Amino acid sequence: MLKVGVLVSGGGTNLQAILDAIDNGKITNAQVSLVVSNNPGAYALERAKKHEIEAVCISPKQFENREEFHKALLAKLQESGVELVVLAGFLVAIPPMIVEAFPNRIINIHPSLIPSFCGVGYYGLHVHEKALARGVRVTGATVHFDTGTDTGPIILQKAVKIRQDDTPEVLQRRVMEKAEWKILPKAIDLIANGKVKVVDGRVEIEEYDVEE
Ligand code: GAR
Repeated sequence: MLKVGVLVSGGGTNLQAILDAIDNGKITNAQVSLVVSNNPGAYALERAKKHEIEAVCISPKQFENREEFHKALLAKLQESGVELVVLAGFLVAIPPMIVEAFPNRIINIHPSLIPSFCGVGYYGLHVHEKALARGVRVTGATVHFDTGTDTGPIILQKAVKIRQDDTPEVLQRRVMEKAEWKILPKAIDLIANGKVKVVDGRVEIEEYDVEE
């Protein structure tokens, strides 16, 4: 059983999608053993507690500097025996110290088709504002191994069409429903069942099924 630690900052709808997928058998061989938020008010922490999952806040404000914060976060993940770290709306850049401790064991969900609309400053609603401002007709979501800010090998992507009257909020919701809440649980299931390999910086998935 793969022990998954989920890092969150806000509402936690992606966390909920993971918990639901475990409950209904869409994710097998994995359990969420820890949820950490940098934000004490994150509703995601409540979602974890309702599932009787250890939920803790580790905020940069509790520490003298960024390095101490990073050390505390890493220590918590290691103490809990987490084997896969899932960034599910975690709006903190993962430092090299943590990336190196979990090689190809950190995945992130990003609300665009990487390499579009990603990197520093592209998070949450801003991603959708920028996609609408650029006038793209298609956006989507990406799950990738995380080696910094929206870098690292891509595991799954799903496209979502943009309508002319979309607002950032409406588009955000559609990308979540049609893409994020599907591909994040799917990626965890593939990893938990040993079907994901990184070869020469790219992901190979056993029995990869291209959905039309
Ligand atoms: C999601 O849309 C996620 O893709 C995005 O934050 C939202 C969190 O929602 N993440 C990023 O922008 C990371 N760069 P949630 O808390 O309801 O899952």
